[in-house]
Amino acid sequence: MSGLRGWRSELVWTLGDPASNVAALRHFPDGLLLVEDGRIVDAGAWSDLAPGLPEGVPVEHLPGRILTPGFVDGHIHFPQLDMVASPGGALLDWLERYTFPAERAFADPSHAREAAGRFLNSLLANGTTTAMVFGSVHRESVEVLLEDALARDMRLIAGKCLMDRGPEGLRDTAEGGAAETSGLIRAWRGRGRLGYAVTPRFALGSSREQLALAGRLVADNPDVWMQTHLSENTAEIEATRQAFPEAADYLDVYDRFGLVTDRSLFAHAIHLSDRELGRMGQARCACAFCPTSNLFLGSGLFDLKRTTGFGVKVALGTDIGAGTSWSLLTTAAEAWKVGQLKGTTLDPLTALYMAGRGGAEALGLQDRIGAFEPGMEADFVVLDPGGAPGLARHRAASLSERLFALMVLGDDRTVERTYLAGNLAHSR
Ligand code: GUN
Ligand code: ZN
Repeated sequence: MSGLRGWRSELVWTLGDPASNVAALRHFPDGLLLVEDGRIVDAGAWSDLAPGLPEGVPVEHLPGRILTPGFVDGHIHFPQLDMVASPGGALLDWLERYTFPAERAFADPSHAREAAGRFLNSLLANGTTTAMVFGSVHRESVEVLLEDALARDMRLIAGKCLMDRGPEGLRDTAEGGAAETSGLIRAWRGRGRLGYAVTPRFALGSSREQLALAGRLVADNPDVWMQTHLSENTAEIEATRQAFPEAADYLDVYDRFGLVTDRSLFAHAIHLSDRELGRMGQARCACAFCPTSNLFLGSGLFDLKRTTGFGVKVALGTDIGAGTSWSLLTTAAEAWKVGQLKGTTLDPLTALYMAGRGGAEALGLQDRIGAFEPGMEADFVVLDPGGAPGLARHRAASLSERLFALMVLGDDRTVERTYLAGNLAHSR
């Protein structure tokens, strides 16, 4: 997009967690967002910015709406888009009975290509403009997804699952998986706003040889991320302990292979010891809190306060298809409910932070996305509180109360439009 453009509306974003630092909140009830060439030029009060606007700049007025940076989904599985709400029991049973069969279908590139379009459409319909994505074990599943994201100029990070100890028909080899990963990193490096994540599925899915090769790929490629699952379910943790008796604990399995770094994102991270959380904080790791998945599979209740207390960065993740909603609003609402059960209250402003800026920080992308600051990428959503039944006439008064109601009652119906780099990418 070229040419300066503006949107006049209520604006809200954060530069940190407002619950611990009120100065991190940016809120303009009547604001102006200015964008040029896909980047934010300025954002602030209409009364401050309008007088300096050059003649002829198109400004769209959106009264009654809220503009905020696009949401960041810290953990989601591309090949699981069509198996949400599959009644497996807990994690390992659910994987065997529903997940692995669904992922086998992604060996067919034409199936994967068709699914990629629907996957990205669903993200955008929910206001998600950046996601950290698990592909299937098949190299092609990641290629078609990245191709589609590139065509949309979307900021997406994805990786092919490494799983040489996976089930029949869904297995790579240590050498083959590493070679495919290397090839994908080379082929996609520097293209558009894409990123690559070395993706060992979980400790139980890989041999020591495969984890060691994954660690080498992370060390050799400073521009890539690493994503995996960690300490999600008690039976999984016990099986991991038996499979890797030499490791001190679950995190240590990854640590021994160089997979615990400031570019690592661990999904779930529910049942961790002080030692594991301390090590994650020291290494400046991130994790993804996936409440709808954790409740659906009965995995456990993530302790947000304890985790951030160790200095671990926390993104919100939908974890589709163990997760049951694509919406980061719904995900934040479920995070709030988990907090209720843990005896801690999740501040709605903290939830807003986690869905945007906090997710960006977890991915090390806080200089590019997650806030309306000059020079940052213009990925944003237009929220319409009238879109969800019960919200339009809600008596919420303060910003915090309104955001709370938006989170609890809102979903894709509340997302009126989604913009990628200043271009309209979804509209209801
Ligand atoms: N652990 C290993 N694979 C998976 C997966 O696909 N989903 C979840 N929730 N946990 C996993
Ligand atoms: Zn997952």
